[in-house]
Amino acid sequence: MGYVGRSSNGKIAGYGALDVVLEGLRRLEYRGYDSAGVAVVADGVISSRKKSGKLNNLLVELEENPLPDSLTGIGHTRWATHGGPSDQNAHPHLADGGKLALIHNGIIENFAELKLELVGKGVTFLSETDTEVAAALLADIFRSKLNGDVSDGGLTRAMQLACQRLEGAFTLLAVHADQPDVVVAARRNSPLVVGLGEGENFLGSDVSGFIDHTRRAVELGQDQIVTITADTVEITDFFGAPAEGKEYHVNWDPESAEKGGFASFMEKEIHDQPDAVAQTLLGRSDIHGRLTLDELRIDVELLKSVNKIIVLACGTSAYAGQVAKYAIEHWCRIPTEVELSHEFRYRDPIVDGNTLVVSISQSGETMDTLMAVRYAKEQGAKTLSICNTNGSTIPRESDAVLYTHAGPEIAVASTKAFLAQITAAYLLGLYLAQLRGNKFQGEIKDILADLGKIPAKIQRILDNEGQIKDLGRSMADAKSVLFLGRHVGFPVAMEGALKLKELAYIHAEGFAAGELKHGPIALIEEGQPVFVVVPSPRGRDSLHSKVVSNIQEVRARGAKTIVIAEEGDEAVKAYAEHVFYIPEAPTLLAPLLATVPLQIFALELAQAKGYDVDQPRNLAKSVTVE
Ligand code: F6R
Repeated sequence: MGYVGRSSNGKIAGYGALDVVLEGLRRLEYRGYDSAGVAVVADGVISSRKKSGKLNNLLVELEENPLPDSLTGIGHTRWATHGGPSDQNAHPHLADGGKLALIHNGIIENFAELKLELVGKGVTFLSETDTEVAAALLADIFRSKLNGDVSDGGLTRAMQLACQRLEGAFTLLAVHADQPDVVVAARRNSPLVVGLGEGENFLGSDVSGFIDHTRRAVELGQDQIVTITADTVEITDFFGAPAEGKEYHVNWDPESAEKGGFASFMEKEIHDQPDAVAQTLLGRSDIHGRLTLDELRIDVELLKSVNKIIVLACGTSAYAGQVAKYAIEHWCRIPTEVELSHEFRYRDPIVDGNTLVVSISQSGETMDTLMAVRYAKEQGAKTLSICNTNGSTIPRESDAVLYTHAGPEIAVASTKAFLAQITAAYLLGLYLAQLRGNKFQGEIKDILADLGKIPAKIQRILDNEGQIKDLGRSMADAKSVLFLGRHVGFPVAMEGALKLKELAYIHAEGFAAGELKHGPIALIEEGQPVFVVVPSPRGRDSLHSKVVSNIQEVRARGAKTIVIAEEGDEAVKAYAEHVFYIPEAPTLLAPLLATVPLQIFALELAQAKGYDVDQPRNLAKSVTVE
């Protein structure tokens, strides 16, 4: 966060920089929370406080050691990359004899080489971070190249020169005691937005940092520097040439970024899911059941000529991609691969002009996925982004975008974005089938009608969540939980396991049910809890009966079986310790329902263990480093 405000008669009117920055950090804390720090400029002096741990630790520190009132400030919450999460490594980092403060997101890849050079010039370092190297470089340029002269650009010019020497991904924000009314920022491969106010301006990693103050935002381009004062916003490239940002209106409701009465953001977001799916479907088909995805803005002929699809994503979004594969291949008959973004880049993938690369990302900022998309583009592929964050980097750099309309997802563990991603992937699959004539219009209309019924069915699961909540609480002592599924139930099983790992810190594993007998069944011992996602008995009969056999196999070896099955499926009862029924849905659409009890289970179990479900340890919402 960065802020510059204007005084009224030399006094701070209403609120100061620290209030704005801390409030912004509170909203942005989901991005990283292993330490936090702030710096303000007051009376020509930089004052800074920083503390390891969550933002609250910094607030306590500020109570004990308050900062002076100020109209210029920066603040940061960190997710450690170089150097552990200590007070020392927290940002801001100071340089120029304490006159310059700098905060940073990302990784500076050539920091070791720069550090050697600076140490050679007599600079000493207090932390293990790459950030302190950037601060020292900026200070060195400000002093030795510009002689500390603030008349001709000063800090802005120094930032331009420093960025020319930095490699890697970074958002940098800096303040200097000699330029008390200015915050200078730079971005390369890492997010940064400007908020435009009246007599005040803001900088944030995303707009939620300042939506309480303004809805006018400016999106910065790649390799740009921005200098804000209370009344001005000036943008240049790294070489000082004037540049322009793109202004847009933020239509997020600040309320929707709050918890809405639930105990945690995650619980709220699980309950937002009927809406997230409904909003993602909204306005994308006409009354004849024809999909109208004109917003994709991609040449229809090009889509028709696609002969291979590669889905790229990480974590939960990659599981959405796996569901997409089943649907797209079934509906469109286009070979579809799903690959973790970070693996894709390094294996010499076969990609050409007829390949459609579909990236899936909630944040639109995941560095692994961004780099994979760039690589695919270089290889000549057409790129389409399924994304939840308007204006973020991945959709901006893709040829086409299909936004999920889940609304802001604050809890680190993804829930509503997952269901919205699956929904968007279905829409894409059906659209391709429509364009290429793989399905009759009537068939597409019927599937859309089935999809339209899903939000109410999710709501039914939520209205009856008591049973799964009780089970979650009762299993707080579980040491390991396994999840089995076949076909689209397989990615659902893996997502169920991931939720439990990341929220409750329990060993959990998702397996393809058919794979069990090839090894993992050795894990089953007396009392081992095993969730089984059972497909509809009305769909492909062989699939259902195979999964029922798998339940019997693990049960015979002592497993405690917990079954997610479709209403009316009596066959599973005999083999299940617990059965959770979900409403009927066509096999391919069932993940939108079967996932929900698994999310609630993980949430309840983690809460019973007393963990912070919104901010699990070691994680960050937006993984903007590779
Ligand atoms: C898990 C989770 C992560 C993300 C992954 C990709 O609950 O949230 O696994 O899905 O880091 O993030 P996005 O979708 O923002 O690219």
